[in-house]
Amino acid sequence: MVKKVAVIGSGIMGQGISQVFIKQGFDTLLIDISDEILENAKNSIADGKYGLARLVQKGTITEEQKKVYMKNLSISTDYGKLSDREFVIEAVPEIMNLKLKVMESIEKNIPETSIIASNTSGIMISEIGINIKNKSRLIGMHWFNPAPVMKLIELVKTPFTSEETINAVIALANEMGKEPVVVKDYPGFFTTNFVHSWLVESLRLYEKGIAGKEDIDKMVKLGFGFPMGPFELMDTIGLDTMKEIGDYLYSETGDERMMPPPILKEMVYAGYKGNAKIKMNSKGGWYDTDKL
Ligand SMILES: NC(=O)c1ccc[n+]([C@@H]2O[C@H](COP(=O)([O-])OP(=O)(O)OC[C@H]3O[C@@H](n4cnc5c(N)ncnc54)[C@H](O)[C@@H]3O)[C@@H](O)[C@H]2O)c1
Repeated sequence: MVKKVAVIGSGIMGQGISQVFIKQGFDTLLIDISDEILENAKNSIADGKYGLARLVQKGTITEEQKKVYMKNLSISTDYGKLSDREFVIEAVPEIMNLKLKVMESIEKNIPETSIIASNTSGIMISEIGINIKNKSRLIGMHWFNPAPVMKLIELVKTPFTSEETINAVIALANEMGKEPVVVKDYPGFFTTNFVHSWLVESLRLYEKGIAGKEDIDKMVKLGFGFPMGPFELMDTIGLDTMKEIGDYLYSETGDERMMPPPILKEMVYAGYKGNAKIKMNSKGGWYDTDKL
């Protein structure tokens, strides 16, 4: 049974994943590149938008419980502290060279029996783990944002991931009240292919002038019961992120339906990168300009 875990990268996803682990009683080590980033992340886990304070306000947990959960969290910039971790998940930015470097540092520092997971949204796990020597312990564990709220975990197995690893991570996900679904390794897995093609198709229909942005969002929400329309969702994911995902899926699969449409590129090049993320360098999202 896994008891000691580590999360690499204390951004949006790393914070959410750590919060779920500490609430479930796991001894959780959170690693990032600077003490300042880590202190901010710790504060956010305690008191941020989706942090534990929100649960105190809602009456789901007490202030006392919040303190106990926070004691399960330690922070460090030192990968050497991974030496006693049984499970490690990386949640660093979606940059291939960075992921490769981080995966190598993880394997160098953890015990031989520990599991190495990646929270990538779509890069093939086999590629991220290209330098991992023991590939039987490598797995994709794709969480959804916000991690404390969303129930799904997409587990991605490569041809070399062992049954033991898959079962251990299924058990881990279940223990945290999540619903794991196991899929095969493929660029974009299931969920990223699905959501990306749906968003691109919405953009194509919008470009054809079939309906306006507000009306498309309205139709998708009221007609199909989706919590967000495609334009709202793109703004949340980040338009630059969506463009990067499209470029990656097209380059890996040759599927032209995945190519970022010109209108999306125009938005990104003009500085509109979405609005829901804390994007300091974004002018806003689809609803902040009427030029496109
Ligand atoms: N944001 C989402 O909605 C979402 C959803 C599912 C999966 N993901 C995936 O999760 C991963 C992380 O995304 P995010 O949105 O949390 O990113 P983010 O930019 O918010 O956070 C990344 C963190 O990693 C840290 N970092 C950078 N280099 C590092 C290193 N060498 N060692 C340790 N930490 C390092 C950064 O300082 C930052 O705090 C990506 O692979 C992304 O595709 C994101």
